[in-house]
Amino acid sequence: MSEATARAFPNIALVKYWGKRDARLILPAAGSLSLTLDAFPTTTTVRLDPDAATDSFTLNGAPGAEVPTQRVTRFLDVVRELAGSTSHARVDSLSEIPTDAGLASSAAGFAALAVAASAAYGLDLDASALSRLARRGSGSAARSIVAGLAVWHAGDDAQSYAEGVDGPELRMVILTLDRSAKRVSSREAMVRTAATSPFYTGWVTSTASTLEEALAACRAGDFTALGLLTELHALRMHALIQSADPPIRYLKPASIAAFDRVEELRAAGLECYATADAGPNVVVIAKPDDAAQVADELAVLGEARVVGPGPGATLIADAVGPTRGAAG
Ligand code: PMV
Repeated sequence: MSEATARAFPNIALVKYWGKRDARLILPAAGSLSLTLDAFPTTTTVRLDPDAATDSFTLNGAPGAEVPTQRVTRFLDVVRELAGSTSHARVDSLSEIPTDAGLASSAAGFAALAVAASAAYGLDLDASALSRLARRGSGSAARSIVAGLAVWHAGDDAQSYAEGVDGPELRMVILTLDRSAKRVSSREAMVRTAATSPFYTGWVTSTASTLEEALAACRAGDFTALGLLTELHALRMHALIQSADPPIRYLKPASIAAFDRVEELRAAGLECYATADAGPNVVVIAKPDDAAQVADELAVLGEARVVGPGPGATLIADAVGPTRGAAG
């Protein structure tokens, strides 16, 4: 096959990934746990073009910016090496993440690209090999290969992939509080944190044990234990990031207010727990029956949208962009 299209969804971590032990292979310093969502997919078509001198990349119909295009090319270099190919490709991507939703697009983006590119270049990869490949584009993309709850293992290149885990039924409320672009990318911030925070070693060792406890909570179907660990781990990650030199602060007053509100809702008997990625927006986990009420309660703070567990990355039939032969 010289053309393939795939779709993938973003994921939100309950046990966070923050820090690499190998930047080239994107091996995480510790494992992590996430939920792949059922909203905001990215759909990507990869078409091999043996006559092209370079790769090309469009996002939502417009030529990709320089840095994302370089990341796509570097990723395709990994695929070409695996496939023993020198052919360049045209990559057309459609992201349904509203640019101002405050959700990272790289996880869905590189998971879709991994599935589409490996098929277009004729590689026959199983789920763990696809997850290892997606990891090379963006660490968190390893988890978007997998449906629902996913654990991404630390370890060497062969060991570091994501796989599905069973756990309690849950929903996420995406609370959009601040629509401005973040000032420091997670990639750069991770490097700075690892290089300068006196707490980094403690973070790595404690994350490994938090992950074990979270997996035990999943096995037991224990929503409460998983929720408590999720909130604890998010606050630890943000404390760690703030301890970098120079410090980085992603949480804004509105984010802190959301964490406070979640604590109040719990005290009032509505069980929910907050987390936040490398930005000011907050994601709240709730039981399926409570999610709509939690979203209602949080809507005074910002736009609140309930999302659920979604599918892993898959090949689909509908191509993005011009069909072959029609390309200009
Ligand atoms: O994969 P990256 O480089 O986008 O890093 C993701 C980092 C966090 O979203 C903050 C945590 C996580 O585990 O997703």
